[in-house]
Amino acid sequence: MKVLVVGGGGREHALAWKLGHSPLVSEVLVAPGNAGTENEPNTHNIPINPEDLESLVALAISESVGLTVVGPEQPLVAGITDRFEAAGLKCFGPRAAAAQLEGSKLFTKSFLQRHNIPTANYASFDKLHVALEYVKSVELPMVIKANGLAEGKGVVVAQTQMEAEQAVRKMLENRAFGEAGTIVVIEEYLQGEEASFIAMVDGTNILPLASSQDHKTRDDGDKGPNTGGMGAYSPAPVITPDIHEQVMQQVMIPAIRGLSSEGLEYRGFLYAGLMIDSKGTPQVLEFNCRFGDPETQPILFRLRSDLAELCLKSFDGTLSGAAVEWDSRAALGVVMASNGYPGNYKKGLNIQGLEKIYDDSVKVFQAGTVINEGQVLTNGGRVLCAVALGNTVREAQVLAYENVKKIDWDGAIYRRDIGYRAIDRERVSAS
Ligand code: AMP
Ligand code: GLY
Repeated sequence: MKVLVVGGGGREHALAWKLGHSPLVSEVLVAPGNAGTENEPNTHNIPINPEDLESLVALAISESVGLTVVGPEQPLVAGITDRFEAAGLKCFGPRAAAAQLEGSKLFTKSFLQRHNIPTANYASFDKLHVALEYVKSVELPMVIKANGLAEGKGVVVAQTQMEAEQAVRKMLENRAFGEAGTIVVIEEYLQGEEASFIAMVDGTNILPLASSQDHKTRDDGDKGPNTGGMGAYSPAPVITPDIHEQVMQQVMIPAIRGLSSEGLEYRGFLYAGLMIDSKGTPQVLEFNCRFGDPETQPILFRLRSDLAELCLKSFDGTLSGAAVEWDSRAALGVVMASNGYPGNYKKGLNIQGLEKIYDDSVKVFQAGTVINEGQVLTNGGRVLCAVALGNTVREAQVLAYENVKKIDWDGAIYRRDIGYRAIDRERVSAS
């Protein structure tokens, strides 16, 4: 069977790599892919933009693709799965109506309330003067969110009235996020530790994947501007077996039942971004209708089961009987990015040292890279993610950084502290 992976980042390199290991898969096509996918065996990049749904359907038909797995959210929110289904093709990802869980914060907040799923209190506004009045009346800090997709840039945690007012004006007055910011959601600030809870869903059954945590800000100590993610690890020690059970009972099961009861069958990866408070109670910060980036890289590096088989099972509604095996070791990934990211940065720089990585416990998943005359060049903000396995998160961290140090280009940046929260927990439980 041929498989198509839609997208071109680190998540898609990991998906293509893992799907390529399945005995069911003869060839992996990646649209558009990157230098990392191009260099995988039996894997070919096809230069189609993930948002060009017509060309993707045409490709899947002409190549007799048996399974398509979608990485990013935009094509899902735009209805790629609806289009593929109409053409009789299997596309792993929710239809547009269910992808609203990521596409509209307002849809999600009211959905969570309707189904009694724990989340921060909120109010929503489309009129500037009403939003500005409201901002004056609520406690600080408060969280201001553009309703639609804003590539992770549409959330402001305002510490002062001034910041809150500026964020509201930026969205409702200056239209900084265009259509995505015509409605703002203002919510209560939650305290605690964040974790990612990602599952595969077949409409009814929920198959939870290994837990993970990412680091969203660019600089050490979780400081600096927000990014797409500077590193991640799995498992996340904050998700104890007890909290795992609470998340299933209070979040995942009611969410999938709630969607079904509203006529929205959900198939695909479902990602709950959670805040776990000091008492261990989980609350939903957001849902994503896809796998996380960079969480995919460490999670799939630990997955021993056949991902293609699991995706296919979701079309028969038999995910509940599936056994999933994990490497018992922890995996930790460090993102190397271009100097200036998440702002402006240079592209086209020579990446050196990739050939120095040959340990079976290490894998470099590429993101913003391109091949030119056999040489791998930078082609984006997040360039790659070096993932390593270790008996503890600490050991995985040491091995990941040993390998990061072998790779270089002019102006490469990375955080030095990926995994510190998990490592602190390991220290406490060891003492
Ligand atoms: P979101 O895209 O909604 O997950 O928000 C992006 C980031 O903003 C999250 O990963 C959190 O770090 C932070 N955030 C969002 N909502 C809240 C909240 N209600 N309380 C505290 N932090 C939040
Ligand atoms: N790592 C966060 C995300 O994929 O949205």
